[in-house]
Amino acid sequence: MQQFVNVVTLGDSYDVLKELPDQSIDSVVTDPPYGLSKEPDIREVLTHWMSDLEYRHPSKGFMGKEWDSFVPSPSLWREVYHVLKPGGHVLCFAGTRTQDLMTMALRLAGFEIRDVIEWLYVKGFPKSMNVSNQFDKQAGAEREVIGTKKAGIGSGKTYAFQEKNSQAAKVVPITLPTTDLAKQWDGWGTALKPAHEPIILARKPLERTVCKTIELYGTGGLNIDGCRITGAGGRFPANCVTVELDQWYTPYFNVTSRELSKKASKNDRNTDWQGNVISLEEKCGGSMCGSADGSLTGGKIPKYRNNHPTVKPRDLMAWLCRLITPPGGIVLDPFGGSGSTAVAAKGEGFNFIVIEKDPEYFEIAKCRVA
Ligand SMILES: C[S@@+](CC[C@H](N)C(=O)[O-])C[C@H]1O[C@@H](n2cnc3c(N)ncnc32)[C@H](O)[C@@H]1O
Repeated sequence: MQQFVNVVTLGDSYDVLKELPDQSIDSVVTDPPYGLSKEPDIREVLTHWMSDLEYRHPSKGFMGKEWDSFVPSPSLWREVYHVLKPGGHVLCFAGTRTQDLMTMALRLAGFEIRDVIEWLYVKGFPKSMNVSNQFDKQAGAEREVIGTKKAGIGSGKTYAFQEKNSQAAKVVPITLPTTDLAKQWDGWGTALKPAHEPIILARKPLERTVCKTIELYGTGGLNIDGCRITGAGGRFPANCVTVELDQWYTPYFNVTSRELSKKASKNDRNTDWQGNVISLEEKCGGSMCGSADGSLTGGKIPKYRNNHPTVKPRDLMAWLCRLITPPGGIVLDPFGGSGSTAVAAKGEGFNFIVIEKDPEYFEIAKCRVA
């Protein structure tokens, strides 16, 4: 066990978790693959899961990443269940359109679903198809250009590069519809602007009562006072954490602390747990590398020392760790990525076990907790 504590482990969680003793972990804070690929045949998924078989999804996930192809299966969560103490909580990020699958996998592994925290933000970009444009394109019809506007590129998931790229957004033409169908459906699209991510709060069943479980294992409760809203009279923490002060942080609806009000900044992603810049080379980030001529980014291809595509902000991760981890406890993240949970847990004085299977992301995480 000791060899896994306070280091990032390179490996597949299916295997590594089997090496940990039962009931040795106090909390789980994790951001697993959301499975943002093609809509699955839900009957096929559930048939596999109910028969204890692995379901393999045929499509790649977010930004063509294989690791994001599908949500972790009940068998993975069952390993998590074994190592977690009774009453131990899990805080698990999920995608808005696949949170039902994530929740079901957790339930099938034996967890109770206690709540869902909504992490609200305003800097997401809509990935909506312009229906009118598409009709004209299909018909091979030219559209009259009447001006230009700046347009953000983007997709539906928390994607830190978007923020950077929004400043260097490409200029797109404003056009008028040509065909009858394009005129009829002008102004119609296919998706909303993403503005929240769910964080599922699950719990391993108690041993009889909350008090008995806390007495025996130190797990089972939530650290309410440790997570009260700062600057708002220490209000009771809500199941909603927000991003923009003006949008959500009002005298009537101040549901969160100011420090939780942001996505991962460049400084956040490129620094270690003490705030020092990590010594890795700068690399271009994710799908932006595909834009060799820079056309997607207004000529600039952003580079990051930590080029993981889905880095979570450390203040938010710290708040989540604090909410469900008893003092001196061990936080587990079986989907470590670039190590944001490890950075947060270490900063909060908790122990951590973080597992990541991709060697490139493992190196970044290792640097961030060194
Ligand atoms: C959404 S990312 C986590 C990002 C992280 N929150 C951060 O801030 O960097 C999920 C990560 O899980 C990893 N992963 C997926 N399946 C895994 C498995 N079975 N074992 C270990 N890591 C896995 C992927 O390589 C990916 O880096």
